[in-house]
Amino acid sequence: MELENLIIEDISRSHERDFFSCGIGNLDNYLKFDARRHHNDGINHTKILTQKGMKEIIGYFSCAAASVTSNFFQDKTLKKIRGYEIPCIKLTRFAIDRRYQGRGLGQYLLICALKHVCKVSENLGAAAVIIDAKNSSAKEFYIKNGFYELSDLCVYLPIREVRRSFKL
Ligand SMILES: CC(C)(COP(=O)(O)OP(=O)(O)OC[C@H]1O[C@@H](n2cnc3c(N)ncnc32)[C@H](O)[C@@H]1OP(=O)(O)O)[C@@H](O)C(=O)NCCC(=O)NCCS
Repeated sequence: MELENLIIEDISRSHERDFFSCGIGNLDNYLKFDARRHHNDGINHTKILTQKGMKEIIGYFSCAAASVTSNFFQDKTLKKIRGYEIPCIKLTRFAIDRRYQGRGLGQYLLICALKHVCKVSENLGAAAVIIDAKNSSAKEFYIKNGFYELSDLCVYLPIREVRRSFKL
Protein backbone atom coordinates (compact mmCIF):
# COMPACT_ATOMS: atom_id res chain seq x y z
CA MET A 1 0.00 0.00 0.00
CA GLU A 2 1.36 3.40 -0.99
CA LEU A 3 1.55 5.86 1.91
CA GLU A 4 0.58 8.68 -0.44
CA ASN A 5 -2.80 7.01 -1.02
CA LEU A 6 -3.68 7.09 2.68
CA ILE A 7 -6.01 9.77 3.92
CA ILE A 8 -7.45 10.75 7.28
CA GLU A 9 -10.93 12.20 7.31
CA ASP A 10 -13.84 12.82 9.66
CA ILE A 11 -16.17 9.84 10.02
CA SER A 12 -19.17 10.04 7.70
CA ARG A 13 -21.99 7.96 6.30
CA SER A 14 -19.83 7.04 3.30
CA HIS A 15 -17.40 4.87 5.32
CA GLU A 16 -18.01 1.13 5.23
CA ARG A 17 -18.23 0.39 8.95
CA ASP A 18 -19.84 -3.06 8.90
CA PHE A 19 -16.71 -5.03 8.04
CA PHE A 20 -14.31 -3.39 10.47
CA SER A 21 -12.69 -5.88 12.84
CA CYS A 22 -9.65 -5.06 14.98
CA GLY A 23 -9.82 -7.97 17.43
CA ILE A 24 -11.49 -6.02 20.25
CA GLY A 25 -15.27 -6.24 19.99
CA ASN A 26 -15.94 -3.02 21.92
CA LEU A 27 -13.85 -1.00 19.50
CA ASP A 28 -15.55 -2.58 16.47
CA ASN A 29 -19.02 -2.00 17.91
CA TYR A 30 -18.26 1.56 18.89
CA LEU A 31 -17.28 2.32 15.30
CA LYS A 32 -20.33 0.54 13.88
CA PHE A 33 -23.02 1.82 16.20
CA ASP A 34 -21.99 4.96 18.08
CA ALA A 35 -19.00 6.76 16.59
CA ARG A 36 -20.80 8.77 13.91
CA ARG A 37 -23.61 9.86 16.23
CA HIS A 38 -21.15 10.86 18.97
CA HIS A 39 -19.07 12.72 16.39
CA ASN A 40 -22.08 14.67 15.17
CA ASP A 41 -23.22 15.38 18.74
CA GLY A 42 -19.78 16.71 19.70
CA ILE A 43 -19.19 14.00 22.31
CA ASN A 44 -16.23 12.26 20.71
CA HIS A 45 -14.45 13.30 17.52
CA THR A 46 -13.64 10.37 15.18
CA LYS A 47 -11.15 10.32 12.31
CA ILE A 48 -10.99 7.51 9.79
CA LEU A 49 -7.87 6.15 8.08
CA THR A 50 -8.73 5.03 4.56
CA GLN A 51 -7.37 5.22 1.02
CA LYS A 52 -8.18 7.81 -1.61
CA GLY A 53 -11.34 6.83 -3.45
CA MET A 54 -12.09 3.92 -1.07
CA LYS A 55 -14.81 3.42 1.52
CA GLU A 56 -13.02 0.68 3.44
CA ILE A 57 -11.85 1.62 6.94
CA ILE A 58 -8.21 0.73 7.65
CA GLY A 59 -8.24 2.22 11.14
CA TYR A 60 -9.71 4.96 13.26
CA PHE A 61 -9.16 7.07 16.32
CA SER A 62 -11.48 9.14 18.48
CA CYS A 63 -10.60 11.91 20.88
CA ALA A 64 -12.29 14.05 23.49
CA ALA A 65 -11.44 16.57 26.20
CA ALA A 66 -10.45 15.18 29.60
CA SER A 67 -8.62 16.11 32.78
CA VAL A 68 -6.41 14.27 35.22
CA THR A 69 -5.24 15.25 38.68
CA SER A 70 -1.63 16.47 38.58
CA ASN A 71 -0.49 14.05 41.31
CA PHE A 72 -0.48 11.14 38.87
CA PHE A 73 2.05 12.63 36.46
CA GLN A 74 5.76 11.83 36.67
CA ASP A 75 6.55 14.67 34.31
CA LYS A 76 8.55 17.45 36.08
CA THR A 77 6.51 20.36 34.76
CA LEU A 78 3.10 18.76 35.20
CA LYS A 79 3.95 17.51 38.70
CA LYS A 80 4.67 21.07 39.80
CA ILE A 81 1.08 22.16 39.15
CA ARG A 82 -0.18 20.87 42.50
CA GLY A 83 -3.85 21.04 43.35
CA TYR A 84 -5.10 21.48 39.79
CA GLU A 85 -6.67 19.14 37.34
CA ILE A 86 -4.43 18.99 34.27
CA PRO A 87 -6.40 19.58 31.06
CA CYS A 88 -5.70 16.79 28.58
CA ILE A 89 -6.86 15.41 25.25
CA LYS A 90 -7.85 11.79 25.53
CA LEU A 91 -7.48 9.33 22.68
CA THR A 92 -10.65 7.48 23.62
CA ARG A 93 -10.52 4.88 20.85
CA PHE A 94 -7.69 3.72 18.59
CA ALA A 95 -7.66 0.69 16.29
CA ILE A 96 -6.37 -0.80 13.05
CA ASP A 97 -8.35 -3.43 11.18
CA ARG A 98 -6.84 -6.92 11.59
CA ARG A 99 -6.16 -7.23 7.86
CA TYR A 100 -3.84 -4.22 8.09
CA GLN A 101 -2.14 -4.83 11.46
CA GLY A 102 1.62 -5.40 11.65
CA ARG A 103 2.44 -3.19 8.64
CA GLY A 104 3.36 0.01 10.48
CA LEU A 105 -0.09 1.52 10.04
CA GLY A 106 -0.76 1.68 13.80
CA GLN A 107 2.36 3.79 14.16
CA TYR A 108 1.31 5.89 11.17
CA LEU A 109 -2.17 6.47 12.63
CA LEU A 110 -0.69 7.34 16.03
CA ILE A 111 1.48 10.02 14.41
CA CYS A 112 -1.60 11.38 12.61
CA ALA A 113 -3.54 11.38 15.92
CA LEU A 114 -0.73 13.21 17.73
CA LYS A 115 -0.50 15.83 14.97
CA HIS A 116 -4.25 16.28 15.22
CA VAL A 117 -3.95 16.72 19.00
CA CYS A 118 -1.24 19.38 18.49
CA LYS A 119 -3.51 21.25 16.12
CA VAL A 120 -6.46 21.11 18.52
CA SER A 121 -4.27 22.26 21.41
CA GLU A 122 -3.36 25.47 19.55
CA ASN A 123 -6.73 26.81 20.63
CA LEU A 124 -7.36 24.89 23.83
CA GLY A 125 -5.50 24.46 27.11
CA ALA A 126 -4.21 20.89 27.02
CA ALA A 127 -0.95 19.70 28.52
CA ALA A 128 -0.93 15.99 27.71
CA VAL A 129 -2.43 13.27 25.55
CA ILE A 130 -3.79 10.43 27.66
CA ILE A 131 -4.99 6.95 26.73
CA ASP A 132 -6.66 4.20 28.73
CA ALA A 133 -5.10 1.21 26.99
CA LYS A 134 -7.52 -1.67 26.50
CA ASN A 135 -5.01 -4.27 27.71
CA SER A 136 -1.32 -4.70 28.55
CA SER A 137 -0.43 -5.47 24.93
CA ALA A 138 -1.98 -2.20 23.74
CA LYS A 139 -0.19 -0.42 26.57
CA GLU A 140 3.10 -1.92 25.30
CA PHE A 141 2.37 -0.47 21.87
CA TYR A 142 2.01 3.04 23.31
CA ILE A 143 5.06 2.73 25.59
CA LYS A 144 7.07 1.54 22.60
CA ASN A 145 5.91 4.66 20.79
CA GLY A 146 7.13 7.09 23.45
CA PHE A 147 4.26 7.24 25.98
CA TYR A 148 4.80 7.09 29.75
CA GLU A 149 2.84 5.16 32.33
CA LEU A 150 0.31 7.22 34.26
CA SER A 151 -1.40 4.47 36.26
CA ASP A 152 -2.26 0.82 35.55
CA LEU A 153 -3.25 0.76 31.86
CA CYS A 154 -3.33 4.54 31.49
CA VAL A 155 -0.49 6.20 29.55
CA TYR A 156 0.34 9.82 28.70
CA LEU A 157 2.59 11.99 26.59
CA PRO A 158 3.15 15.71 27.32
CA ILE A 159 2.00 17.77 24.33
CA ARG A 160 5.12 19.94 24.46
CA GLU A 161 7.14 16.75 23.86
CA VAL A 162 4.96 15.92 20.86
CA ARG A 163 5.49 19.43 19.49
CA ARG A 164 9.23 19.16 20.00
CA SER A 165 9.44 15.80 18.24
CA PHE A 166 7.46 17.09 15.23
CA LYS A 167 9.31 20.43 15.38
CA LEU A 168 5.96 22.25 15.64
C1 LIG B 1 -2.37 -1.95 18.77
C2 LIG B 1 -2.54 -1.67 17.27
C3 LIG B 1 -3.17 -0.31 17.06
C4 LIG B 1 -1.14 -1.69 16.61
O1 LIG B 1 -1.31 -1.44 15.23
P1 LIG B 1 -0.36 -2.17 14.16
O2 LIG B 1 -0.65 -1.58 12.83
O3 LIG B 1 -0.52 -3.63 14.29
O4 LIG B 1 1.08 -1.75 14.68
P2 LIG B 1 2.35 -1.35 13.79
O5 LIG B 1 2.53 -2.36 12.70
O6 LIG B 1 2.25 0.07 13.39
O7 LIG B 1 3.52 -1.52 14.86
C5 LIG B 1 4.36 -0.44 15.21
C6 LIG B 1 5.34 -0.92 16.23
O8 LIG B 1 4.65 -1.26 17.43
C7 LIG B 1 4.86 -2.62 17.76
N1 LIG B 1 3.61 -3.19 18.23
C8 LIG B 1 2.46 -3.34 17.53
N2 LIG B 1 1.51 -3.88 18.32
C9 LIG B 1 2.10 -4.08 19.51
C10 LIG B 1 1.66 -4.60 20.72
N3 LIG B 1 0.40 -5.02 20.87
N4 LIG B 1 2.52 -4.65 21.76
C11 LIG B 1 3.80 -4.21 21.63
N5 LIG B 1 4.27 -3.68 20.49
C12 LIG B 1 3.45 -3.63 19.46
C13 LIG B 1 5.31 -3.28 16.46
O9 LIG B 1 6.10 -4.41 16.70
C14 LIG B 1 6.09 -2.18 15.81
O10 LIG B 1 7.39 -2.09 16.38
P3 LIG B 1 8.70 -1.96 15.45
O11 LIG B 1 8.54 -0.63 14.76
O12 LIG B 1 9.82 -2.02 16.42
O13 LIG B 1 8.60 -3.11 14.51
C15 LIG B 1 -3.39 -2.78 16.56
O14 LIG B 1 -2.77 -4.02 16.78
C16 LIG B 1 -4.83 -2.83 17.03
O15 LIG B 1 -5.66 -2.10 16.52
N6 LIG B 1 -5.11 -3.73 17.97
C17 LIG B 1 -6.49 -3.97 18.43
C18 LIG B 1 -7.11 -2.75 19.05
C19 LIG B 1 -6.27 -2.16 20.15
O16 LIG B 1 -5.68 -2.85 20.98
N7 LIG B 1 -6.27 -0.82 20.16
C20 LIG B 1 -5.65 -0.07 21.21
C21 LIG B 1 -6.72 0.21 22.20
S1 LIG B 1 -6.20 1.28 23.47
